[in-house]
Amino acid sequence: MASPPLAREVFGVRFQNPILLASGTAGYGRELDGVMDLERLGGIVSKAVSLEPRAGNAPPRVAEFRGGMLNSVGLANPGLAQVRAVELPWMFTHLRTARVLVNVVGFAAGEYPAVIEGLDDLDGITAYELNLSCPNTAAGGLEFGADPLAVADIVARCRRVTRRPLVAKLSPALPDIAALALVARDAGADGVSVVNTLPGLALDPGGKARLGNGNGGASGPVLLPAGVLAVRRVRERAPDFPVIGVGGVRGVADVRQYLAAGASLVGIGTGALADPRLPERIIRALERGDG
Ligand SMILES: Cc1cc2nc3c(=O)[nH]c(=O)nc-3n(C[C@H](O)[C@H](O)[C@H](O)COP(=O)(O)O)c2cc1C
Repeated sequence: MASPPLAREVFGVRFQNPILLASGTAGYGRELDGVMDLERLGGIVSKAVSLEPRAGNAPPRVAEFRGGMLNSVGLANPGLAQVRAVELPWMFTHLRTARVLVNVVGFAAGEYPAVIEGLDDLDGITAYELNLSCPNTAAGGLEFGADPLAVADIVARCRRVTRRPLVAKLSPALPDIAALALVARDAGADGVSVVNTLPGLALDPGGKARLGNGNGGASGPVLLPAGVLAVRRVRERAPDFPVIGVGGVRGVADVRQYLAAGASLVGIGTGALADPRLPERIIRALERGDG
C-alpha cells in the first residue's frame, strides 16, 4: 500500500509532515543537535521569548508523577536581544526543511507585540505562537488566556505589527476553550495550539511542595484526552481554523487521535524530553502508514 502523503499546508505554509516539537521542551533547537535529526521534523516551536531575560523559578523545577511531569520553569529564557542575536540565527542556519515557530510571552499585553516587532524583520520565522497562559501582572496574576478581552486585545495588538501567521496557545483549564479560540480567530489569529500545561501541585510525604515554586504545570500522558477533546471542540465550532494539537503524545497512535480529532499539526513535548528519538520514530511510522 502506498504511504499516505505527510506534507500539508497550514496557515498558507508547507510543512513536510505534521510533527512539531512543542515549545519549551526543545530549547532553541541547538540543545538537541546531534541527539535527533531536526530536519526530519515538520517544525520546532522555540522556547518562550520575553522582552527581557528571565532567570525563571527556584529549583527544583521538575517533578515526575505517574501521569507525567510537573514543571515550574517559569518561562526562563535569555530574552529578545540574545534570542535574536544568537538562538534564532542558529535555527535559521541549521533548519532548512523543518519550520521555525517562535513562542512569545509577555507579562503585560504590550510585551507580546514588542517581542514580535523586535524579531519580525528576520527571515526564517514561519509563525509566532502566543503563550497566553502567562500571568497578567496588571490583573493580579490571572492568566491572559482566561479573559476573552485580554485574548482579543493581545491578538489584535500582535496582528497590527506582523503579517506572519499568529497562533494563540490556550490552557486546558479553560471552561470553554473553543469559545476562546473563536475570540482569538476573530481578533486576527491564524490558528490555535491546544493545550498548554495544566496547573497542578505535587506534595512530598511531609506535605511540602516538591517544586521550588510550589505549584507548576502538568504535562505528559495526563493531558492526552484533554488535548484531543480540545482539538475536537475547536474543530466543531471552527471547521476551517487550523489547530495544533499538543499534550501527552507518546506514540504514533496518540498522533493519530489528534489528527482524527481534526488537528492540522501535532506537537510533542514531554514525550520527546523523555525519549529524544520519539519524534523521528513517529514520523517514520506515519510514513509507513503504521499504527
Ligand atoms: C519543561 C517545559 C517547558 C515548557 N515551556 C513552554 C513555553 O516556554 N511556552 C509554551 O507555550 N509552552 C511551554 N510548555 C508547554 C508545552 O509546549 C506543551 O504545551 C505541554 O507540555 C503539553 O505537551 P506534552 O504533554 O507533550 O509535554 C512547556 C512544557 C514543559 C514540560
